[in-house]
Amino acid sequence: MRWYDNFNRVVPSWYLGDIAEVRTVTAENLPEYADVIRRSFLTVAQDFGWTRETAPGFRAYITDEELLARYVVGYTPFALFAGGKIAGFVSLTDKGGGVFVLNLLSVAPEYRHCGYGGKLLDFCKDRVRALGGEKITLDYIEENTRLKSWYIANGFVHTGTQKLDYLPFTSGFMEWRAAQ
Ligand SMILES: CC(C)(COP(=O)(O)OP(=O)(O)OC[C@H]1O[C@@H](n2cnc3c(N)ncnc32)[C@H](O)[C@@H]1OP(=O)(O)O)[C@@H](O)C(=O)NCCC(=O)NCCS
Repeated sequence: MRWYDNFNRVVPSWYLGDIAEVRTVTAENLPEYADVIRRSFLTVAQDFGWTRETAPGFRAYITDEELLARYVVGYTPFALFAGGKIAGFVSLTDKGGGVFVLNLLSVAPEYRHCGYGGKLLDFCKDRVRALGGEKITLDYIEENTRLKSWYIANGFVHTGTQKLDYLPFTSGFMEWRAAQ
């Protein structure tokens, strides 16, 4: 995707990366961020050859209603806005005891490789530190070695795996500690 300034010049992606900002969103923004989440995870489904039939519970097929049901005490959704549009999403759930769960990290395919995913992770770390939290936990697809390496490069530590019968992949678990 290309962005143009007021003089019709192409805006370089590194500049957009600077002006992109992460903000709390509400259920009013749900149609736009739900689309970003589904399109983001659809590339993963395509990479692994999953479909709605073979992996109905996968995040690429999450419904607006399921996303709405996530609004419980302690849950905060955030969106990354670039050029006024939602380009990325992440949510944090305060589980108590200083533990926060990071979920549904997504950057729309046309906005990838600009540092937005890293920006969303940094935002979550800053947020958890500011709230006096101790750690962030997350789960991911263990077979996605590129993603795993990326989380490790961003300061996360592998803590375990679990294979559930109804999912076509192994769940991997990681955590990041504020005190490290
Ligand atoms: C993982 C994701 C959020 C990264 O977003 P991003 O804005 O491209 O991240 P950054 O620009 O900060 O970093 C890019 C790096 O992410 C890593 N990466 C991890 N998974 C990736 C994926 N599925 N596709 C592309 N890059 C991926 C690569 O190392 C990449 O490095 P490169 O640009 O040198 O190729 C994005 O690829 C995405 O939405 N993937 C699909 C959903 C997903 O798997 N989310 C994680 C849930 S646990």
